[in-house]
Amino acid sequence: MAVSASRKSSKNARKNLTLSHYSPKLSIYLLAICVILLVIFEIKSLHAQRPSLPWNFMHQWQTAINSSMMTSQECTQELKTMALKLQSSVTFLPLKDLRYSSTAQQGHTWFMSSMHDTHKEGEVQYQKFPSKASKGRLLCLKGNDTHDGSWNSYALAWPQTLPENATLLKGLTFVSYNHYNYDNIWHGLSAMVPFVAWHIKNQCAVPTRWILYHWGELRTKMGPWLTTLMEATYGEALIIEKFDGIKEGNDQIPACFEEAVVMRHNEGGMSREKRIEVYDLLRCKARAYCNVSLEGRVAEVNEKGVPVIGMTMFMRIGTRSFKNDRIVIGIFNKACRKVEGCRLLVAYSNNLTFCEQVKLMSSTDILISPHGAQLTNMFFMDRNSSVMEFFPKGWLKLAGVGQYVYHWIASWSGMVHQGAWRDPDGDQCQYPDDDRRCMAIFKGGKIGYNESFFSKWAGNVLNEVKIRKAEEMVSKKNTTGISSACGCI
Ligand SMILES: *[C@@H]1O[C@H](CO)[C@@H](O)[C@H](O)[C@H]1NC(C)=O
Ligand SMILES: *[C@@H]1O[C@H](CO)[C@@H](O)[C@H](O)[C@H]1NC(C)=O
Ligand SMILES: *[C@@H]1O[C@H](CO)[C@@H](O)[C@H](O)[C@H]1NC(C)=O
Ligand SMILES: *[C@@H]1O[C@H](CO)[C@@H](O)[C@H](O)[C@H]1NC(C)=O
Ligand SMILES: *[C@@H]1O[C@H](CO)[C@@H](O)[C@H](O)[C@H]1NC(C)=O
Ligand SMILES: *[C@@H]1O[C@H](CO)[C@@H](O)[C@H](O)[C@H]1NC(C)=O
Ligand SMILES: *[C@@H]1O[C@H](CO)[C@@H](O)[C@H](O)[C@H]1NC(C)=O
Ligand SMILES: *[C@@H]1O[C@H](CO)[C@@H](O)[C@H](O)[C@H]1NC(C)=O
Repeated sequence: MAVSASRKSSKNARKNLTLSHYSPKLSIYLLAICVILLVIFEIKSLHAQRPSLPWNFMHQWQTAINSSMMTSQECTQELKTMALKLQSSVTFLPLKDLRYSSTAQQGHTWFMSSMHDTHKEGEVQYQKFPSKASKGRLLCLKGNDTHDGSWNSYALAWPQTLPENATLLKGLTFVSYNHYNYDNIWHGLSAMVPFVAWHIKNQCAVPTRWILYHWGELRTKMGPWLTTLMEATYGEALIIEKFDGIKEGNDQIPACFEEAVVMRHNEGGMSREKRIEVYDLLRCKARAYCNVSLEGRVAEVNEKGVPVIGMTMFMRIGTRSFKNDRIVIGIFNKACRKVEGCRLLVAYSNNLTFCEQVKLMSSTDILISPHGAQLTNMFFMDRNSSVMEFFPKGWLKLAGVGQYVYHWIASWSGMVHQGAWRDPDGDQCQYPDDDRRCMAIFKGGKIGYNESFFSKWAGNVLNEVKIRKAEEMVSKKNTTGISSACGCI
C-alpha cells in the first residue's frame, strides 16, 4: 500500500514537472535514479547468467526494482529526453565577436572570444578539443561566409550529443586565425609557426585538414610559397576545408571535429628557444623537400680550400626597389671582390619558385635586401648568417613597429641582423615629413644609395663573417644547427 502510494505521488510529481513548471533539480534527481536503476539492471543481468548466485538476494533486488517509481522503459525514455535536451542546448556563437572589435587581437581576441587558451610559460598558446579544458567537448563550426566573420559560428558539444544533423569529421583538424592574410609570406608564416610548434610538441602529429580564418571569415587557400612550405613540413598535400557541400535548406549544417587545435595568437607567448626549434625544422624540411644538401655552408670551399662567403643581393621590382640597381650592385660587387672567397649572387624575388628561393638562401651567408616580404626567406640560410636591410625615406618615423619584423624574424630564426640603412632622400611630401599623411607617399618609395656608407658597411660585415667561417672551418662544425635528419621524420 505504502509503496504504491509513494509511486503514485511520484508519478504526479513527474506530471507536474512536465506539464507545469520545469525544475532542473528534479530532473537531475530523476536522472540519478535512472542511472542507479540501470546499474542495478546491469548487476541483475550479470547475475542472471550465473545461476550459482543466491536467488534470495536477486529476488530482493527485483522486488526493490519493481517497487521503485519508474520502470526501465520510463527510465530509458527519460535518458533520451535528457540527451535531446543536451543536444538542443548546444549554442552557436558568432566566430567574430564585435564587442571586442577595438581590441581584436588582445586577450581572448574577438575570434571565439568566450574561449581560453592553454598556455605554459614559453610554449605555444593553443586550444585543444576535446580536452580537460573543454570538459571533453568537441569543437563544432558552422558557416562558410567569406565577408563577415560574425555570420560564421562555433559551439562546443559532447560527442554523444552533437547538434542535430551535424557531420562528425574524423582526424586532427588545425583551425587557424590570422589577423592579416595567408598570401603575404610574412603574415602567413606567422600564423603557421604555432602549428609547427604544436606539431613538434605532439610527436609530429600531422593534420587531416586545415580550416583558415581571417577575422572569422573563411579562407580556402594560402599563397603558393606558404602552401609549399607547409607541404614540405608536414610531408603531404594540404587539405583546406571549404564547407561548400554541407547545407540543409537555408541553414548551414554544423561540422564537428573528432580532434581540433585552434591557434589565434601567432607566435605570441613562445620563447626564443621554442621559435628557433620551429625555424630549424622549417629550414631542414624545406631543404630536404627541395633536394638541397643538409650539410650547411661549411661544405662550400673554393679551389684553395678557403670557405666561400656567399653574398646575395635579393632585389625587388616596383615599390622599395633600388632606384638604380646597377650602381648598388656595383658597390657590393667591389666590396665582395676585396675579400678572398667572397662570391656575389644577384637574384630577383619576383620570379623565383619556392625551391629556387630555398636553394638561393642555402648558399647565402650575407643577405642584402630591401625591406619587404621576400626577406622572410632569411630563415632558410644557415643559422648565424647575416642580414642587411634597406628602407626608403620616411619609414622610421611613420611606419610603426611593423618595420621591425625582419629584425624579429632574424632573432627568432637565429640570424644576425646587421642593421638597416635608411635613405635620407626621397619623394617630397607636401606636409611636414613626420605627418602621418606622408606615409602614403613614402610607402611606395624607392631606395637610393650612399657609396661610402655601403662600402664600409659591407666591408665590416664581410670581415665578421670571414672570421666566423674561418673558426667554423677549424672546428668543422655544422652550422645548420640540425643533424641530417630533421627533428620530425
Ligand atoms: C517484477 O516485474 C516483472 C514484470 O515487470 C515480473 O515478471 C516479476 O515477477 C516481478 N518481480 C517481483 C519480485 O515482483
Ligand atoms: C535535420 O535534417 C532533417 C532531415 O533532413 C530536417 O528535416 C531537419 O530540419 C534538420 N534539422 C536541422 C536543425 O537542420
Ligand atoms: C557555402 O556553402 C554553400 C553550400 O552550403 C555553397 O553553395 C556556397 O557556394 C558556399 N560559399 C562559398 C563562398 O564557398
Ligand atoms: C628531389 O629529388 C627527387 C628524387 O630525385 C625528385 O623526385 C623530386 O622531384 C625532387 N624535388 C625537387 C623539388 O626538385
Ligand atoms: C626575373 O625578373 C627580373 C626582374 O624583373 C628579370 O630581370 C629577370 O630576367 C627575370 N628572370 C626570369 C627567369 O624570368
Ligand atoms: C653617406 O654616409 C656617410 C657615412 O658613411 C655620411 O658621412 C655621408 O654624409 C653620407 N652621404 C650622404 C650624401 O648622405
Ligand atoms: C652561432 O654563433 C654563436 C655565437 O658565436 C655560437 O655560440 C653558436 O654556436 C652559433 N650557432 C650555430 C648553430 O652555429
Ligand atoms: C654535418 O652533419 C652531418 C649529419 O650529422 C654529417 O653527415 C656531416 O658530416 C657534418 N658535416 C661536417 C662538415 O661536419
